Amino acid sequence: MDLLLFSLNKEDITPLYEQLYEGIKDAIIQKKINVGEKLPSKRKLSDFLNISQTTIELAYAQLLAEGYISAKARVGYFVEDLDELPYVEKHTILPKTPTQKPTYTYDFNPSGIDIEHFPFSTWRKYARDLYDTAHADLLLTGEAQGEFALRQEIATYLYQSRGVECSPEQIVIGSGTEQLLPMLIRLFEEATVFALEHPGYPSVDRILRQHGRSVFPINVDDEGIIVNELEKSNADVVYVTPSHQFPTGAILSATRRTQLLNWAAASPTRYIIEDDYDSEFRYTGKPIPALQALNGKDKVIYMSTFTKSLMPSLRLAYFVLPPSLLAIYQRVFTYYTSTVPRFDQHIVANFMRDGHFSKHLNRMRKIYRKKHNALIDAFTHYPQVRITGSQAGMHILLALEGNEQQLWQSAKTQGIGVYPLSQYLLQPAHYADARFLIGFGQLYDINQAVDALMKVWQLKKITPHSL
Ligand SMILES: Cc1ncc(COP(=O)(O)O)c(C=O)c1O
Repeated sequence: MDLLLFSLNKEDITPLYEQLYEGIKDAIIQKKINVGEKLPSKRKLSDFLNISQTTIELAYAQLLAEGYISAKARVGYFVEDLDELPYVEKHTILPKTPTQKPTYTYDFNPSGIDIEHFPFSTWRKYARDLYDTAHADLLLTGEAQGEFALRQEIATYLYQSRGVECSPEQIVIGSGTEQLLPMLIRLFEEATVFALEHPGYPSVDRILRQHGRSVFPINVDDEGIIVNELEKSNADVVYVTPSHQFPTGAILSATRRTQLLNWAAASPTRYIIEDDYDSEFRYTGKPIPALQALNGKDKVIYMSTFTKSLMPSLRLAYFVLPPSLLAIYQRVFTYYTSTVPRFDQHIVANFMRDGHFSKHLNRMRKIYRKKHNALIDAFTHYPQVRITGSQAGMHILLALEGNEQQLWQSAKTQGIGVYPLSQYLLQPAHYADARFLIGFGQLYDINQAVDALMKVWQLKKITPHSL
């Protein structure tokens, strides 16, 4: 065969042998070199390309190891028949740079949390104590439902803060609500219809559909899910966020709570999944007990997460099963191990045991309340916008006149992240105005952020002087 012509770049950070290997491999894959053809000898190719024989030796060795060529002793290297070789086409190789999320000057992301006040030194102390030979047993797999010590802490915390009565045996720990949901789904018959709040948490809808389950959207108003609609559906399981409806921020009214529990009590196959994802942060009025605590012990699967209260990256959430579902769970999931690292579980358990979790929550509640009030105050200077869902959690809902898509895009191009309500709809719905989720957890300069957004949207600031 002719000598191989490759353009090798000596300045490139990719080593020469790798460039040569890639070049020959591509030529073989694209059939530019025929099966059975002999590759040039190392000496000849080294003279021709003006590179060392060692470089060529390395490239040939790699091709040989991967089966692109074969070697005949004292004769040379020959191209193999690719049809018999499994190989990966170049275009299927993953890009070397990870996909970048958009970066904003001001990001009103409802999933953002404050990262300036995390108690790193305390956390580090617990981590250091645990990563020690004294705890070598934590290198082995633990209990499937999660570490007993953590389940015990969660049970105590739930009783004290949410009125939820349960034993550690009823708790299952997993790496996030998203990972726990597919498990929950499997506790119900294939034909079970799941009712979801509309608008609602999009992950739930996606997960259910991915698992081939039937989904029935139920509208939400300013009292939360409209239970009359649920009663007319053929759903057996309903997924709700009663303490702070996601994304509208509505709090389920007392009447609806009773109505919802009565709906569930009317049939042995009916259940309520109560997602209490951000109940720790409530800014007005008394804390509202969980549904599970209101006579719902046998009918409510209570779910919560440490995503808002500690950090989303920890990937730690849990559900509490009513006794009637516990036996099914134990039968279906006997052979699963926990998805959360044992060390992390014990860090959290010890952190809770010694009172640091309550201390952290009290501190964060003050910080988020300040941010929340600053956000509401900042928007009061703009009478063109309307705020709802502002009693709890880490986001509010903002409504204003205009085209939602255009307003979203104009904010985006000016480096401001806002989150249109339309992204949380389970089915098309018509609103007369534009609506956005406005998160404040990860914002530190709220007045500037609000003024910047309002400027982009060309809304005039009304100050006491200009009134
Ligand atoms: C309604 C709702 N549930 C649960 C979660 C938390 O999910 P995870 O535990 O998977 O982080 C969130 C996070 O934003 C949420 O909005």
